[in-house]
Amino acid sequence: MTALTNTPTWQKLASLAEDVKQQHMRDWFASDSSRAKKYQQTACGIELDFSKNLITDDVMKALFSLAGESQVTQKRDAMFKGDIINHTEQRAVLHTALRNFSGQPVYVDGQDVMPEVLACQEKIKDFVASIHSGERKGYTGKALTQIVSIGIGGSFLGPKIMSEALKPYWFDGVTVHFVANVDACHIQDVLADLDHEETLVVMSSKSFTTQETLQNTLTAKDWFLQAGGTQQDIAKHFIAVSSNIKAATDFGMAEDNIFPMWDWVGGRYSLWSAIGLPIALTMGYDNYRQLLEGAYAMDEHFKTAPPEQNLPMLSALLGVWYINFFGAQSHVLLPYYHYLRGFPAYVQQLDMESNGKNISGDTTQVDYATGPIIWGSEGTNGQHSFHQLIHQGTLLIPADFMLPLNVPNQDNTHHAMLASNCFGQTQALMQGKTFDECYADLEGKGLDEAERVKLATHKTMPGNKPSNTLLFEQMDPKTLGSLVAMYEHKVFVQGAIWGVNSFDQWGVELGKELGNQVLDKIVNTDTALSFDSSTNALIARFRQANA
Ligand code: F6P
Repeated sequence: MTALTNTPTWQKLASLAEDVKQQHMRDWFASDSSRAKKYQQTACGIELDFSKNLITDDVMKALFSLAGESQVTQKRDAMFKGDIINHTEQRAVLHTALRNFSGQPVYVDGQDVMPEVLACQEKIKDFVASIHSGERKGYTGKALTQIVSIGIGGSFLGPKIMSEALKPYWFDGVTVHFVANVDACHIQDVLADLDHEETLVVMSSKSFTTQETLQNTLTAKDWFLQAGGTQQDIAKHFIAVSSNIKAATDFGMAEDNIFPMWDWVGGRYSLWSAIGLPIALTMGYDNYRQLLEGAYAMDEHFKTAPPEQNLPMLSALLGVWYINFFGAQSHVLLPYYHYLRGFPAYVQQLDMESNGKNISGDTTQVDYATGPIIWGSEGTNGQHSFHQLIHQGTLLIPADFMLPLNVPNQDNTHHAMLASNCFGQTQALMQGKTFDECYADLEGKGLDEAERVKLATHKTMPGNKPSNTLLFEQMDPKTLGSLVAMYEHKVFVQGAIWGVNSFDQWGVELGKELGNQVLDKIVNTDTALSFDSSTNALIARFRQANA
């Protein structure tokens, strides 16, 4: 047993879980009309109703003890302070410095990073203004109205999904297109409709070594040169966000057109850095700044609110409860807001790349589950596809439902339907429908007894399925910033409890390495294949098809 699973608190939680499994949420709601009020908290424009969870006061108390014994607050403070908490890469973890509006310094290796951060924000602000005003022009004197943002992983998901989520705030006059996949279909589709004289390419890569991003940028460069631009004109049409200045200048970018990144910002936490430039280009600097302000507000909440009121802490502990004591393997995110449809994919990288780990501390192999599978899509669409499994399947899948109370261009008929579906789903998951209720419904339907029993059995809904509901006054930039930071800190708390390093991602390396070896064999068709028989056969088949 590891130290964690051996603690009295862990054992207590395990026994509480056995107890709770014998009970039903519908009875708790029936016997306690104050349950909803008791298990709800509001902060930073997010109203979290967590009453439809398999929790009691004893459970919450034990979960708070678990957080305390895991030294979550000490670990949190070490992160904000700039300690080297990413111990496998010897790096501080300071995405919070990128939205630090306290006026206080933040030190890395004894050096205050805030002057550089603020200078970068000013640079973003000026750059965006120069594009939006049309002052900054392409090589033929045309305004740059088409932005192609190239990046992958955190250098893609954050900018794309946050931009999408804030559509009502878009600046009228520029269009931002996002490209990630190395599949040529993506970049070709985007470039096909663009005039190179009006196009600005933003290449976002912290490392400037990521295959997909490099190749897509090279393809965009070829397209630009073939369309009439010269090597010299590249500087006016290609800019980069990267910590690898040399590689970017070697590519042809003007040094002044390179926005900095720092090794203390992880890719999946980078939208707060200049990686977020496409967001600012999409909606203007002021809106982008609001996004950062919202994240800062959540940082302050996370640092100061007691655990019982702390949204990241509560959502993290509820996750641990289901993952470690109920065997939940996944967590579904269900935004009931079309513009927030990409949010599950954003949290997917954030959570799965952070906590998809099996080593705790320096070298301990965990004997407990860690990060879950994160998935989901916009409501109500999922109700007509995968909700069936959540309602009646054999897996326990905790859900986060999200709904803005006000939406832009509000159509009350649609919005009322959207909200009623959202609330109705959480209700159905919680209360279910008993066999007796289903049996009673079938009275007078002309069924014989055996048919009636059979159908009632199939219609029975077990209920007791946990969900959180997150309401927002509206999904404005500030609230979105808070929401993203809430999930970041949720992931942090869970990582702290499990003792994993949430800030490295060694698991992606082997695939990249082998992919490069395979590429070599695919390109050099006359070389002998020396991998396993399956991989050899796949490469041979590909060679044959492309001969
Ligand atoms: O391969 C994983 C990863 O390193 C992610 O963590 C990161 O967000 C993505 O690739 C892109 O990296 P870069 O910004 O260096 O191109």
